[in-house]
Amino acid sequence: MTERKKTTLPMLFKKVADGVPITWLTCYDYPTAYLQEQAGIDMILVGDSLGMTMLGYESTLPVTMDDMIRHSQAVRRGAPNVFVIGDMPYMTYQPSVESGIRNAGRFMAEASCDAIKLEGGIEMADRIEGIVKAGIPAIGHLGLTPQSVSALGGFRVQGKGALQAKKILDSAKALERAGAFMILLEMVPDRLCKLITERAEGCIIMSLGSGPDAHGQLLIYHDMFGLYPRFKPKMAKVFGNAGEVILNGVKAYVQEVTDKSFPQPEHWFGMKDEEYDELKSLLD
Ligand code: KIV
Repeated sequence: MTERKKTTLPMLFKKVADGVPITWLTCYDYPTAYLQEQAGIDMILVGDSLGMTMLGYESTLPVTMDDMIRHSQAVRRGAPNVFVIGDMPYMTYQPSVESGIRNAGRFMAEASCDAIKLEGGIEMADRIEGIVKAGIPAIGHLGLTPQSVSALGGFRVQGKGALQAKKILDSAKALERAGAFMILLEMVPDRLCKLITERAEGCIIMSLGSGPDAHGQLLIYHDMFGLYPRFKPKMAKVFGNAGEVILNGVKAYVQEVTDKSFPQPEHWFGMKDEEYDELKSLLD
């Protein structure tokens, strides 16, 4: 196991100042978090995408705070030194600033997260402001925001037209002014992402499918390793096919148990003859 220094907010800002892109992945469980920390990832998002990738829902909407806390705790145990972000699930901040502060606080108190993320533009600026005033680092999420997928008309690129792009730009400024230290742009055109990044003042801009000009990149872990069977978004480069490795492994297991080539003596535990004889005598 490689020990590393705990990633902190000043370290993230230093990367931006040095022009070194920040690396960010989703993660929802202990063993994957362990591997991501060993691999040197800067940040982990315990995304409410776990509703789809881990729990098999059709969308992120059924995910609860308790689901998020359970998975965030597991991630924190696996990655004690990574900057871990808890993703606020549907209707845990939309109803009021107060609900947002209370649920953001749960991520910090119960799962030792370093920050929270929530979806939405200008209309959510007061939630960000309240959470930041409560002493909790907050990240905004603009562009394709999966909790509003119905209102947005599906999983599609946002801000292709000038007017919609201007709204996203204005929202980014509003979230920055409200105190967000970071904004994630999901599936907006590369040139819009570049404009927002150039105009950012002390706010880190991250890209998910929004091009190379942000301060760093996020990917959904399950997409990059072929672990989500329903669809593969365009932005998800496949870095390895773990899904295929697992499928082939399980097929081989089924075959070997069926043809009795598994298990072999090295896979089971024996008993000394005298103990076995005594056992038999106890039975007679
Ligand atoms: O839940 C999640 O993983 C997210 C990403 C899609 C950005 O919010």
